[in-house]
Amino acid sequence: MKRTVWIAAAIGAAAWIALGYEDAGRFLFEQETFEGNGRTCLTCHGKDTGTISPQDAQRRFALNPRDPLFRHDGSDDGRGNGVNRMLTEATILVEIPLPANVRLADDRYARTVTLRRGIASTLNTPALDRVLMADGREPSLTSQARNAIRGHAQAKIEPTPGQLEAIARFERGGSFFSSFAMRAFAEGGPEPALPAGVTEPEKRGRRFFEDVFDPNDLRPGACALCHSGPMLNQTNRFFAPPLGGRFQNVGVSEFNRAGNPVRTFIFRNADGSEQTVASPDPGLALITGQARDANTFKIPSLRGLRKTAPYFHDNSARTLEDVAEHYARLFEVLIPGKPVVLTAQEKADMAAYMRLLE
Ligand code: HEC
Ligand code: HEC
Repeated sequence: MKRTVWIAAAIGAAAWIALGYEDAGRFLFEQETFEGNGRTCLTCHGKDTGTISPQDAQRRFALNPRDPLFRHDGSDDGRGNGVNRMLTEATILVEIPLPANVRLADDRYARTVTLRRGIASTLNTPALDRVLMADGREPSLTSQARNAIRGHAQAKIEPTPGQLEAIARFERGGSFFSSFAMRAFAEGGPEPALPAGVTEPEKRGRRFFEDVFDPNDLRPGACALCHSGPMLNQTNRFFAPPLGGRFQNVGVSEFNRAGNPVRTFIFRNADGSEQTVASPDPGLALITGQARDANTFKIPSLRGLRKTAPYFHDNSARTLEDVAEHYARLFEVLIPGKPVVLTAQEKADMAAYMRLLE
């Protein structure tokens, strides 16, 4: 083993003994690089928001153009060249293995595909949501941490199971919540309710998030169909079964407002037939190998939205107004022949209410 590696390992072990479990988790999350490219979890999961916005990236670039955020999968070409994508979109190049029955039309022998994804916030999610990553591909926090250390940080030292467990415990703990109410809920306290709203727009906006259904007016409860339950991240009883569903398609890849490169994926079905899917990011379909899951993603929690812009898996919505605009476009085409049209005031109400969700 190289000498520097030995020294780093010795420092790691000493810190481990000196700090204890909770602090060891913090040390590994914020400082240890495992002899990698200088990145830690904190490089991408900022303290206040759990993520990085284009504004954060711009501030960091002004302070230090060699900030490790801009290395590797944070650079334009994935090899450390170019900061344009990070400064404007703040997306990371995520490499996903292709399932055995899936291939790319334009690159027959490729076994992985590189997609552009926003940095999912670590607020509330590890502690109050077991489904990890936009496509749900990580089965556990320890496996997620191992792959982040290998992938994003390009580590030469393999973390031990104890270190991975310390990171996982740290992420489920005190500083990873969007509000005191969420922290209390994670510690066994009361389920957070839907806030009543104070201003008129907030009070009007609430109706989109109530668990109600009216066949003659599809607007009340429209968002609650998928953003229900205490974390506002599961389907409710008015949506198609099963109750509590966590994955849906809301057309983010179809609209592709981010303008990401579209690839054609060829799925071979169990009966030998083939189906093609053209998409900038097919999401869940690359985990299940099923074409019918194309462009389907995890329903994210809406708690703490004020802190975690931009939104959607590709960061294509900069603001909550952009989110409202996205759904307005979707509702106009969702039910063929029965467009649901949202007024400018309804979109503003929706955004105002989302800002309240702590
Ligand atoms: C280079 C930036 C980067 C670094 C460094 C990084 N992450 Fe992430 N993290 C991401 C991105 C991008 C995603 C979302 C990817 C996706 O959904 O496919 C993510 C997702 C996550 C999630 C899932 C959140 C959710 O809502 O599903 C957790 C938990 C997480 N990271 C923890 C960590 C830990 C722990 C480390 C350090 C060991 C780490 N990350 C290092 C970029 C990074
Ligand atoms: C059919 C299910 C469904 C409905 C109905 C729905 N959503 Fe979503 N929502 C999702 C899914 C799935 C995502 C993730 C999409 C993606 O990233 O591609 C999402 C993402 C979001 C996000 C982004 C969160 C983040 O952290 O990036 C916001 C905000 C949001 N929805 C608000 C709303 C509002 C407002 C409504 C009502 C107008 C609504 N949703 C209706 C399923 C739904």
